[in-house]
Amino acid sequence: MIDDIILEDLENIKKLVKEDKFAGKNVLVTGGAGFIGSWLCDVFISLGAKVVAVDDLSTGRMKNIDHLTKNPKFKFVKCDVCTFKNKEKIEFILHMAGHASPDEYQIHPIETLQTSAFGSANMAELARKNDATLLFASTSEVYGDAEVVPTPESYWGKVNPIGPRSCYDEGKRFAEALLVAYHKQYGLDVKIPRIFNSYGPRLREDGLYGRAMSRFIAQARANDAITVYGDGKQTRSFCYITDTVTGLMLLTTNEKAKGEVVNIGNSKEMTILELAKRIKEITKCKSPVTFHPLPKDDPKRRCPYMSKLDALVGWKPQVKFEDGLRRTIKWFSSKPRDPQN
Ligand SMILES: NC(=O)c1ccc[n+]([C@@H]2O[C@H](COP(=O)([O-])OP(=O)(O)OC[C@H]3O[C@@H](n4cnc5c(N)ncnc54)[C@H](O)[C@@H]3O)[C@@H](O)[C@H]2O)c1
Repeated sequence: MIDDIILEDLENIKKLVKEDKFAGKNVLVTGGAGFIGSWLCDVFISLGAKVVAVDDLSTGRMKNIDHLTKNPKFKFVKCDVCTFKNKEKIEFILHMAGHASPDEYQIHPIETLQTSAFGSANMAELARKNDATLLFASTSEVYGDAEVVPTPESYWGKVNPIGPRSCYDEGKRFAEALLVAYHKQYGLDVKIPRIFNSYGPRLREDGLYGRAMSRFIAQARANDAITVYGDGKQTRSFCYITDTVTGLMLLTTNEKAKGEVVNIGNSKEMTILELAKRIKEITKCKSPVTFHPLPKDDPKRRCPYMSKLDALVGWKPQVKFEDGLRRTIKWFSSKPRDPQN
């Protein structure tokens, strides 16, 4: 069963995305059992597309897509994106497969690099054979510890190529370079959104997989200590999932966005400590905030310069942080807490 908060959110996305562009089309979503991928599967199915979701379930979970598996227009394939083969015609590939949680990817650096590099190479060839549109989930992390904030797409980045985050950052940077090369050499229709901290229902909260937002909510719900890294003055900009997904969908069919990198995020920047305080206020929890060593190479500030997306598709993220946070907390509160691994 899909729950009411997600259903309402899907309706809001559908109002902004044109149904006729996807109805009856064949769509491949890699990482389809993950956070963003499962939302995309839901939207495409509700727009009348035929969806194949590929996922190796390394960080994603079947519970995100269980409600789709009986739908004749939906097919799940448990497979590594690096080796996935498909014989049926595909019109759109939304390539979300990746290791996105810093704690998790730092203990699987090789798989993280391989998924970005070989997985993207495999998807590029598949897109070329099908003359399909390929949208690749890149990340704000390609900017590394940015010296220009808010960060525009024209900024080249400040990345440690051999640091603990390099498997993620450099893997995504390689994939961007590869896909831009496919666009230049073969005219492949590639779109490269750089996603900034998306959050909402289905974001994993547990153990190594949890991100700051979902981890803090889980800790607050249990009245456990909220664990802030460093002094909490590092900033992030949080974008509610419906805005992320709408941006991805609008970019997918946009003619002007061919071969382009485009920031997708919310330009409201806040410190991690502010995030912890806001979650404490809304949940009315009694959790203390505790401070822990800042991981090496953790970016000090992260905020997108958001004008390119609007210039291309005539839309920008709209959900106010307060509203998205309340919805997310409400959703988590309606579920049993995930066991921490
Ligand atoms: N959530 C964010 O804020 C954010 C920000 C920037 C970029 N991104 C990117 O967006 C994509 C989706 O992120 P998410 O937050 O939904 O993460 P997620 O972990 O929930 O989803 C990623 C999915 O990819 C799958 N996967 C990983 N390696 C695979 C492989 N080799 N073959 C097949 N499947 C594989 C995982 O099992 C998981 O289901 C990722 O590529 C991530 O790097 C996300």
